Amino acid sequence: MIVLGIETSCDETSAALIDEKRVYSSIISSQAVHLRFGGVVPELASRAHLRKIGPIVDEAFSRAGLGWDDVDGLAVTFGPGLVGALLVGVNYVKGLALVHHKPFVGVNHIEGHVYSNFLQPDTPSFPLLCLIVSGGHTQLVVMEDHLRYKMLGKTRDDAVGEAFDKVAKLLGLPYPGGPEIDRRARLGNPDYTTFPIGLSREKTFDFSYSGLKTAVLNFANSLGPEEKERHLNDICAAFQKAAVGALVERTIRAARTYQIKQIAVAGGVAANSELREQLTAAGESFRIKVYFPEMRYCTDNAAMIARAGLERLKNGDRSGLELNAYPSLALGEERQQHG
Ligand code: KG4
Ligand code: ZN
Repeated sequence: MIVLGIETSCDETSAALIDEKRVYSSIISSQAVHLRFGGVVPELASRAHLRKIGPIVDEAFSRAGLGWDDVDGLAVTFGPGLVGALLVGVNYVKGLALVHHKPFVGVNHIEGHVYSNFLQPDTPSFPLLCLIVSGGHTQLVVMEDHLRYKMLGKTRDDAVGEAFDKVAKLLGLPYPGGPEIDRRARLGNPDYTTFPIGLSREKTFDFSYSGLKTAVLNFANSLGPEEKERHLNDICAAFQKAAVGALVERTIRAARTYQIKQIAVAGGVAANSELREQLTAAGESFRIKVYFPEMRYCTDNAAMIARAGLERLKNGDRSGLELNAYPSLALGEERQQHG
């Protein structure tokens, strides 16, 4: 089954052609228009998606060397995300499905991130513990099988990617903050100071990142400008140590509590080098196998949407022309949309 996937939930316009075994093409265009605003401007995102979506789908076909006759179905992100941005993808896919007489299905963006772990030759099996860490989400979820999710914990305030972005902003670093903090942290001393890990006294699988962000803000404000500049990499390293430490502690404890031998990490923060190292090492010491998506599939892309869509189409899920965009769709909620 060959699936065309389309992703337009935030500031990446992306199209991909995949089947169960391989990615034929994955085109991702990041919108540079937001850089000077230090964050994504929704209206500009929608307009850029509108301009780019057609050429990007054409490029996905030409790079793959495939035509419409080869395509068995379409998949499109229908939430969560920016409503105007989502609507561009949803409506474009409806048009394509009508013209080319193909079935299509709406995919939850977070489910897409989970399925970025199924784009590689060595795929996880079930039961699988998923750590979902993006700009909008921080969740621990158990999958007993394909498309079935049981929530163990989530953030009570900020998402971890959001914490990276906000800390970067308050330190005067460019957006998105995650990659920049990751790069600087490798040059700094993680023990320069100690930042608190949210909810560390509670035996919960929930997360909290707003206290950490405030602690970094107060610490940075307590330094003079020259000292702050000199210790920027150290502050990044100490922040990242606390942020990643919380993820590793909760995830390993959850895997051991529920005796799950496989972990998959999903979402933009899965690109973080410290998280990749620490969680892999902690997993090894408890004989737990840890999967990370390939770097190019960690942040938003259509290949992951196509892969989740393939699983949904195999499951018999179909969307109709009434499919809408849902800005705050939760994981597991999507079934209602498919009837
Ligand atoms: O999954 P994603 O592309 O978009 C959402 O669905 O939110 O995730 C984007 C988030 C941003 O917060 C970005 O700062 C973070 O992922 N991120 C990272 C790294 N690369 C991206 N955070 C930490 N370390 C990284 N290397
Ligand atoms: Zn995402």
